[in-house]
Amino acid sequence: EVPVGDVVVVTSSSDWPIALTRTDETTVVAMSGMCTHQRCALVPQDGDLYCNCHGALFAVPDGAVIEGPAPEPLPPIEVTVEGTDVVMS
Ligand code: FES
Repeated sequence: EVPVGDVVVVTSSSDWPIALTRTDETTVVAMSGMCTHQRCALVPQDGDLYCNCHGALFAVPDGAVIEGPAPEPLPPIEVTVEGTDVVMS
């Protein structure tokens, strides 16, 4: 369950944090849930993604850096929706 416009961080089957959001009722967008600074797991904050380690903030759904020290945006992850599941492509 991912509400439209909200973001959640889940753990993939390979133990990597993945951020999921829905831009509308049928579209799920996924990106890395790991900070590009020193790889801390991100947490949702007011619809964006925040890093508790050193304070980086990333935009959702495009993963852009809003506030450093993160040097790079979050890499997108290809996913498809199969029924109620989100599957990495
Ligand atoms: Fe995220 Fe440093 S590890 S800001």
